[in-house]
Amino acid sequence: RPQLLSVDQFSRESVEALFQVADIMQPIARRQKISRVLEGAVLGNLFFEASTRTRVSFGAAFCRLGGSVCDTTGFTFSSMAKGESIYDTSRVMAGYVDALVVRHPEQGSVAEFARATNIPVINAGDGPGEHPSQALLDLYTIQREFSRLGKLVDGAHIALVGDLKYGRTVHSLSKLLALYKGIKLTLVAPPGLEMPSYVIERLGKHDMVIEQTDDLEKGLAGADVVYATRIQKERFQNESFEGYRPDFQINKALIDSACGADTMIMHPLPRDGRPDANDLSTDLNLDPRLAIFRQTDNGIPVRMAIFATLMGVDGQVQRSMRDATW
Ligand code: CP
Repeated sequence: RPQLLSVDQFSRESVEALFQVADIMQPIARRQKISRVLEGAVLGNLFFEASTRTRVSFGAAFCRLGGSVCDTTGFTFSSMAKGESIYDTSRVMAGYVDALVVRHPEQGSVAEFARATNIPVINAGDGPGEHPSQALLDLYTIQREFSRLGKLVDGAHIALVGDLKYGRTVHSLSKLLALYKGIKLTLVAPPGLEMPSYVIERLGKHDMVIEQTDDLEKGLAGADVVYATRIQKERFQNESFEGYRPDFQINKALIDSACGADTMIMHPLPRDGRPDANDLSTDLNLDPRLAIFRQTDNGIPVRMAIFATLMGVDGQVQRSMRDATW
């Protein structure tokens, strides 16, 4: 059964094959070409947590390939509010739609949806677990920008910064980076929000140098990519947000002092845009090193490639393309 539940299911070869499909999708994502390889197919977009990018871009990607989308957002608007189980919900949805994209606050819950059905299920974020499609579009963005600069992902220095404990995007991205050779990964987190040991142990099995620090300037020094994440206060259990250092902000002064002219500055978004937030500062908005909106743009071709591959139509896309006329 074709599913996308974790980046663990990828090899370097299968990642690169998916990126080749994403490259083919670029003219459709840019609205220069049209393809209707998913005409007649219906997507169930089930989001039990807040989302803008993932929900809308999965929906738009499916529609741009000719399919239609049924959207459900929040527990209030699903019968889970009446106590319906994941198993029953998934079985019911499989009778209505041809693929499911699911975001849910509990780690492992999207795999539970997948076990109950034979249609493709895509993990759009399972609590603090994984966010595989985000990590794929992040790696795709890194690879495209590195290629423009004549650099390889192999041997890159990547700094992952912020809430590495609850940030599911960094759990998935770090494991994807482990498929490449000679990566130096610097994990920069405030005390108490470090990368979980089960992720570090998994990374330790690969050809990767891992350093951990809570010193922001030291952690960013010489990085090819600075990947910032939001402090996920909504997932805090015993942690006190007030206890964390107030200077954990990535801003222009810090980037200018610690990084080079070609450093990519990334973030999965959303970010906390308040001036004193421990997040990616808006004072970098006009800096060409800021890749955040190139990441969001790449969400469409990568998610189109995911659908086309899981639904077995990736080989038909190129010959089905025609010019957009609007
Ligand atoms: N990056 C991401 O998952 O954003 P949303 O929460 O808006 O989907």
